[in-house]
Amino acid sequence: MPRPILATIHAAALKHNLSRARQAAPDTRVWAVVKANAYGHGIERVHEALRGADGFALLDLAEAERLRALDWRGPILLLEGVFEARDLELCSRLNLWHTVHCDEQIDWLAAHKTHQPHRVFLKLNSGMNRLGFRPGAFRAAWTRLNALPQVDEISLMTHFSDADGPRGVAHQVATFEAETADLPGERTLCNSAALLRYAQTPLQGGGAHTLAADWVREGIALYGSAPDHPTRTAADWDLRPTMTLSSRIIGVQQLQAGDTVGYGSSFVAEAPMRLGVVACGYADGYPRHAPTGTPVLVAGVRTRVIGRVSMDMITVDLAPLDAAGVTAGMGSEVVLWGVSAHGAALPVDEVARAAGTISYELLCAVAPRVPFHLAD
Ligand SMILES: Cc1ncc(COP(=O)(O)O)c(C=O)c1O
Repeated sequence: MPRPILATIHAAALKHNLSRARQAAPDTRVWAVVKANAYGHGIERVHEALRGADGFALLDLAEAERLRALDWRGPILLLEGVFEARDLELCSRLNLWHTVHCDEQIDWLAAHKTHQPHRVFLKLNSGMNRLGFRPGAFRAAWTRLNALPQVDEISLMTHFSDADGPRGVAHQVATFEAETADLPGERTLCNSAALLRYAQTPLQGGGAHTLAADWVREGIALYGSAPDHPTRTAADWDLRPTMTLSSRIIGVQQLQAGDTVGYGSSFVAEAPMRLGVVACGYADGYPRHAPTGTPVLVAGVRTRVIGRVSMDMITVDLAPLDAAGVTAGMGSEVVLWGVSAHGAALPVDEVARAAGTISYELLCAVAPRVPFHLAD
């Protein structure tokens, strides 16, 4: 029998979350961001549920090839553009739209031989200081691109650093507007946080009326996580969990007061208690730094991780279940995040927060040895 750990992908929840983007920005086209193998969910598993999107955005050319192999003929956007000149051949062959964020990418385009001009997304560095042309250099890049026969349409793009936090987006929006106001072309600014929090903010210039503009690039909210957790929860945004990581109890210990648990003896029992050993560890992608107290569901009841996470196992407190009269022991269902067969839910955001990280990292980190299952 295989180890009982399993990652279940919920297709209906993906569809529901996509419909929430439509509600937030009804007149805007939606890129489903499926980079990092669809935030760990698997491109092949999610593409059917997300076919209602207007396009897919990602950054790995091999992932773009996989999408075309799934017979997706609609738009695909490379969020980081090409990494070297010869990548442009694949863009021509597969009709990939690509971001242009630096002069080298324009040089490569200028030297590229193609019968099919490319659609490009020119990226402004409006304050994130990762990829993109700085204000002042942006217009010259646009003029260069506009003169190339290899380019047929230039769209305008920027990315927010603080859409999920108190600083917000206004300073970057002001920079974007100042740089682009009189330029033609479609616009895309919003990630999930900006979509949910600011989509209806008025935007001047270029025919785009709100911040949602022509396209939004939605990643984490599609996967059921609140981009601004803990200020808001996934339930507040009416987002549903799209991945459940579950396992089972494979051992039980009856502890006495003073007994310690696991490597480093970091947990000491204060009173007699039962402990469950779960088939899930950091080699499955569960965060090793999740401390005692990290929430977990056993038989649908919320309890906590105790002691250190080890490679293949974690230990969980069964005392709350015993106190509530819930039967739990060998074989009981354990939900590390997601939804329980008993109906309870444990948002991945809460587990991530307890472990000092973000949902993105947990979802992307589920290890190759974990079997996946696609459910409705
Ligand atoms: C350029 C770009 N657009 C959109 C996204 C989607 O962001 P989120 O998952 O927060 O919606 C990302 C993700 O980091 C990104 O890098």
